[in-house]
Amino acid sequence: MQDGRVKEYISAERIAVRVRELGERISDEYRETSLLYVVGVLDGAFMFVADLVRHIQVPCRIGFIEASSYGSGMRSRGQVDVRCNLDIAGCDVLLVEDILDTGLTLHEIVGEFDKLQPASVQVCVLLDKPSQRRYPLEARYVGFDIPDRFVVGYGTDFDGRYRELPYIGYLENPDTGGREV
Ligand code: XMP
Ligand code: MG
Repeated sequence: MQDGRVKEYISAERIAVRVRELGERISDEYRETSLLYVVGVLDGAFMFVADLVRHIQVPCRIGFIEASSYGSGMRSRGQVDVRCNLDIAGCDVLLVEDILDTGLTLHEIVGEFDKLQPASVQVCVLLDKPSQRRYPLEARYVGFDIPDRFVVGYGTDFDGRYRELPYIGYLENPDTGGREV
């Protein structure tokens, strides 16, 4: 499936290979764990979580939390709204997010999780923009390092659009969300 407004950057095939590798590594590193609590961050991580857990060979509990740092556009509002009603006390948690950018979102979520006293928390992101980091947060598992450019597809969006694309791409005309003006 192609979308003329989006320039493909990471193909569905490359994503599939990398997600499998991540799942295998996670399975290996958590092989002694009796139950891994995989927590996806909505909305952007829904597709990544769905594909990743198929390659995790450890018993899992899977849940989602809501967090948003973006309004309707590309710029962070600089504050994060975290909604979590999961009982993660005593659990080994794998927090799964679509993109690590400044680190604010995951920094806030990990801070909220720490209050709930999990046994451990590790972070897995599909995409990392390391050049943009402003908060002390590193992901243990990273799919791809990417430059500082706004991406869409494979769960990530612009104004709620393009999440269904099976690949990661750049908007050809970011200022208008790809629309002709
Ligand atoms: P921070 O700065 O909090 O940003 O690390 C991470 C959050 O911002 C979203 N984000 C993007 N979403 N395309 C998107 O669709 C992008 O290029 C992009 N960069 C950051 C991301 O979803 C995460 O929640
Ligand atoms: Mg997001």
